Amino acid sequence: MVLHNVYFSGKGTTKACADCIASEMGMEVKEHDWLTPAAVQEKIQIPAGEALLFSMPVYGGFIPHICAERVSTLEGNHTPAVIAAVYGNRHYDDALVQMRDLLEKQGFIVIAAGAFLAEHSIFTTVAAGRPDEDDRTAMKEFAGRCRDLLARRELWEDKKIQVPGKASYDPSAFKGVPFHPDGDEKCVGCGKCVQVCPQGAISRENPRETDGALCISCGACIAVCPEKARDYHGEAYLAARAGFEEKCAQYRKPEMYYIAEWE
Ligand SMILES: Cc1cc2nc3c(=O)[nH]c(=O)nc-3n(C[C@H](O)[C@H](O)[C@H](O)COP(=O)(O)O)c2cc1C
Ligand code: SF4
Ligand code: SF4
Repeated sequence: MVLHNVYFSGKGTTKACADCIASEMGMEVKEHDWLTPAAVQEKIQIPAGEALLFSMPVYGGFIPHICAERVSTLEGNHTPAVIAAVYGNRHYDDALVQMRDLLEKQGFIVIAAGAFLAEHSIFTTVAAGRPDEDDRTAMKEFAGRCRDLLARRELWEDKKIQVPGKASYDPSAFKGVPFHPDGDEKCVGCGKCVQVCPQGAISRENPRETDGALCISCGACIAVCPEKARDYHGEAYLAARAGFEEKCAQYRKPEMYYIAEWE
């Protein structure tokens, strides 16, 4: 059985969670990395005999808007799907409901949903080092349960999963954050950040500068830079980070939901 591992991961924690879950599901895995630019979007048709693992970072309580739009390229046919929302210790708000609804519209049956913790990709002192060992244990247990469920279609064929979140949500309410990474004097102009940016927000001529109107603050340029020349800067950023450290200090634990109960 094939598992389509679809994810978007600027800083790499969503991918780490997706890989952890996928590796425990005991299936042949096909990767679909949505950091690739919109220009190379492919249609992915997944028949009922295969499965989808859909993992997304939480941005402002939803999935990134460029990913929500891209869900229309996924096509299921009563195909089972597992969803994972990866968030930076504030909250995942309506992300799981949104993911479920988007996938159901495309012909998928969401059989399991998880909200997992990771280092905050903008305020990296929040939930630093996560996912940790306990998170990985929870993800492996989740994957084991998903594997069981996939083998027992009679348990979920006509059901709908319930997940936390508001029924009436408005993803357009999130307008992005006012912080965008830029480059410093360590930049050697290699252009790697220009290539990886899913928004085309970094100019080839001057890669130290970022177009704030295009940037979605995904952090991919920070992660890819071999010189560690890109990051968030400024007084406003540092003040916001200090506020988040205080507000999000509590250690939150992964949450997992299933379409049916069984032993
Ligand atoms: C624009 C933006 C908005 C975010 N909003 C939230 C949020 O609403 N709640 C939260 O807990 N974390 C939030 N985060 C943190 C990410 O969900 C978290 O760091 C996630 O692990 C990032 O995944 P990645 O490493 O795959 O990029 C946000 C991050 C970004 C870039
Ligand atoms: S990846 Fe780093 S060193 Fe290369 S152009 Fe971008 S900021 Fe400069
Ligand atoms: S410039 Fe913005 S959108 Fe582009 S990779 Fe960097 S953080 Fe992501």
